Amino acid sequence: MMEAKPTILVAEKLDEAGLQLLKNFANVDCSYNLSLEELCTKISLCDALIVRSGTKVTREVFESSGGRLKVVGRAGVGIDNVDLSAATEHGCLVVNAPTANTIAAAEHGVALLTSMARNIAQADASLKAGKWQRNKYVGVSFVGKTLAIMGFGKVGSEVARRAKGLGMRVIAHDPYAPTDRALAIGVELVSFDAAISIADFISLHMPLTPATLKMFNDVAFSNMKKGVRIVNVARGGVIDEEALVRALDSGIVAQAALDVFTEEPPQKGSKLVNHENVTVTPHLGASTAEAQEGVAIEVAEAVVGALKGELAATA
Ligand code: MLT
Repeated sequence: MMEAKPTILVAEKLDEAGLQLLKNFANVDCSYNLSLEELCTKISLCDALIVRSGTKVTREVFESSGGRLKVVGRAGVGIDNVDLSAATEHGCLVVNAPTANTIAAAEHGVALLTSMARNIAQADASLKAGKWQRNKYVGVSFVGKTLAIMGFGKVGSEVARRAKGLGMRVIAHDPYAPTDRALAIGVELVSFDAAISIADFISLHMPLTPATLKMFNDVAFSNMKKGVRIVNVARGGVIDEEALVRALDSGIVAQAALDVFTEEPPQKGSKLVNHENVTVTPHLGASTAEAQEGVAIEVAEAVVGALKGELAATA
């Protein structure tokens, strides 16, 4: 007797290249913007679930699966939106797409760094509002300035390479990064306190874990150089957002450029999002055509491999 095809629920938009790979092997149900209740109802009929960062795969989801769910695929790197303990308890593998969006995230970090330093977003809004404010939007240069990369993994290293091309001195903090990898691209690894106190610019690239949650808080901001500029394309939760507003208001932080937020989307009227010295984008780090295709293929291969029993958890 032929075995029934597995069913894969794709709960957030996935590039066609990945969908095609999934469809060659399974029945694919693309249902976006599901409420938690709808997700919990559907999940009992699914062998695999694929999400990006917008879907919270909570304990309730695993409990509703009735033991059928075998793999959760995260179309991206960060797996902080998946309850890993609940997955393990329910015998469910969690796989991700660890490499395909590295360059996109690094490029977005550099795009935010450069547009922040030259007030591109603010000047664009001002000119479109009919103003011509050349004196207001005087920026700062990168040459000779120090950039601290916080989290020297794949994305952090690529940002470092690009920042060297802008003429910056690059230092990094990462308790797990090998010194030889840093030295190979001319980056000095330093302590957390040294990095934040020396830097003119700080770029965040660490995962959100209990250890990094609100790592950038009032104490950290008070140890930074006055006038520091911060870019975050990692996770909103690594910053205490109320503390960042205080640091912006006091001038410790001159500017921030943020792609990620504690709550996504952030509350309407958020003081941080609307702050005049803050540039924001809606979690676009991985959003290039190339990265989305790559991520979709990478996660689809991992999910199919896991369903075939060929793969252990990668995440
Ligand atoms: C990631 O973790 O890879 C990024 O946040 C990508 C995304 O979900 O858009």
